[in-house]
Amino acid sequence: MALASDISTPSLETRLATLEQMSLLRFITCGSVDDGKSTLIGRLLYDSKMIFDDQLAALEADSKKLGTRGGQIDFALLVDGLAAEREQGITIDVAYRYFTTDKRKFIVADTPGHEQYTRNMITGASTADAAVILIDARNGVLTQTRRHSYLVSLVGIRHVVLAINKMDLVGFSQEVFDRIVADYRAFAEKIGLVGFRAIPISALDGDNVSQPSTRTSWYDGPTLLSHLETLQVADRKETQDFRFWVQWVNRPNLDFRGFAGTVSSGRIKRGDMVRVSPSGRTSRVTRIVTQDGDLDEAVADQSVTLTVADEIDIGRGDLLSPPNAPPGLSDQFEVTLVWMSEQPMLPGRSYWLKIGTRTVSTTVTELKYQVNVNTLEHTAAKTLELNGIGICNIGVGQSIPFDAYTDNRETGGFILIDRVTNATVGAGMILFALRRSQNIHWQSVDIDRAARAVLKHQKPAILWFTGLSGAGKSTIANLVEKRLYVAGKHTYMLDGDNVRHGLNRDLGFTDADRVENIRRVGEVAKLMVDAGLIVMVSFISPFRSERQMARELVEPGEFIEIYVDASLALAESRDPKGLYKRARRGEIKNFTGIDSPYEPPEQAEIVIDTAHLSAEEAANAVIRKLIEFGIIAAA
Ligand code: ADX
Repeated sequence: MALASDISTPSLETRLATLEQMSLLRFITCGSVDDGKSTLIGRLLYDSKMIFDDQLAALEADSKKLGTRGGQIDFALLVDGLAAEREQGITIDVAYRYFTTDKRKFIVADTPGHEQYTRNMITGASTADAAVILIDARNGVLTQTRRHSYLVSLVGIRHVVLAINKMDLVGFSQEVFDRIVADYRAFAEKIGLVGFRAIPISALDGDNVSQPSTRTSWYDGPTLLSHLETLQVADRKETQDFRFWVQWVNRPNLDFRGFAGTVSSGRIKRGDMVRVSPSGRTSRVTRIVTQDGDLDEAVADQSVTLTVADEIDIGRGDLLSPPNAPPGLSDQFEVTLVWMSEQPMLPGRSYWLKIGTRTVSTTVTELKYQVNVNTLEHTAAKTLELNGIGICNIGVGQSIPFDAYTDNRETGGFILIDRVTNATVGAGMILFALRRSQNIHWQSVDIDRAARAVLKHQKPAILWFTGLSGAGKSTIANLVEKRLYVAGKHTYMLDGDNVRHGLNRDLGFTDADRVENIRRVGEVAKLMVDAGLIVMVSFISPFRSERQMARELVEPGEFIEIYVDASLALAESRDPKGLYKRARRGEIKNFTGIDSPYEPPEQAEIVIDTAHLSAEEAANAVIRKLIEFGIIAAA
């Protein structure tokens, strides 16, 4: 297949220069093998007479040999779609193929069409400007056509091409074509997809793919390829308001301080005023620096370093905009969330949210409903499973700059990252900010935690006991509390069994309920630390994520994780409440250690080996550690 020899020496440099100047269209193909998707892609590659993938390797080698810079720039451009996903840790299969015609360069994202590949489609579509939705003319609009179209509209693709394929098998009938188009239009309007272009094709025979067909005399529109060649996409991004996420601050010496990043949208000229969000400070752009020298102006997708006139504070994750068209600023949003992990989304769990170059902690405060991707029905749900799509409210740890996703993908789209595994677990689109956050302010009080603690002559802390049911958490915590009491310390005990009778009586033992259980207890413990107390928390708290979340609610050093370590066999042999027996008989579902997981701490401050220590010895060991950590003084 290597066509590399075609492009060898004579005009390589000219070719590279031309290639560099040609515009790029990223598109996604939606459909299944049965619809003729592979055939279509193969046909496009073949008809464009360049299997660009292979050429690229040759191009790269050649351009290195010849020392032209153009080759390198071009290569980065072609692979950045993949690189960006690698950086985000998405390891989902999306095949990207590159080809070029004499009018345009193309990157086609090819993902499997089945429902279990929803996340792949979202990944592939999220960087695409256009979507080719394939329909088998014999079958017309199917459930999967609707699903694909919904996903395409969700990620904000505005150019939709309906490729009605296998026209040869329906005798190139205009009637069939018109009926499918009418069907599709009715559905498209419902999901707000306006303006699509329908093209009758035969991927197998090549009709209307790159060559106009002689067998569809009733069709006077463009071929698929010429339509893709002429779609106007770049302009829109360039005419949007200027947005620039600061990726890093470049300060090689005291005389230079530049803000590096990629122009997300719009354009910036030297001398323009910019506003920094969230700080709200403004300054004037003095230089637009690139490797190849300064520019007067930079536009969407260009990577540049900006310098500004004033010494104002600008850091990674800040968003630059024109002063008169700033982004919004909020810490509560309604969003569409696509779940991409085998581990379900759990409301209340803390995740990292990455928007642009900014990373903040977030929790889903409410899953309002789930969308059935096949029927578009809304259903009630407590969690989102892999490939699930839901409308949620989320809260983030600090106000962040944003735009609605429909206004700007780069400032309205985000990913969620698991805090423990660092894997990308979800992709989201901001619908709008919730006003609530603007009306609720943290009430500052004059008597603070330090003042309260001083009066009590103690350092407040959370002693967080975690371990299996029957490990001995409550027994040991009780003994520790008695010793602290005797030492004149002000304490309080939060115990799973007790709290579940009151504050958390609405919660059961599903993963989602356990997350919420621990979230609430963490918040209560935090308030108690604020009140100056030493709080004992005795909960199974089976998940690392939530223990970590509780830890982050208080100051460093205030959270002491105590792993009460008993093997399942040991806990089960003790079975103080007879619960293991019942769980084994199947009378209790989701029992920790049996059919619900326990994630042991990796770095607990204190580990109690209950196989070798009595409860008294364990309590003494905890007290010794508390002295060592400076929580209490030696007696
Ligand atoms: S946690 O997992 O959400 O932290 P928590 O500590 O509040 O659990 O409650 C655990 C206590 O509830 C156990 O000690 C046991 O008495 C009781 N219990 C009832 N059902 C279950 C279950 N399915 N899994 C674990 N504990 C259960």
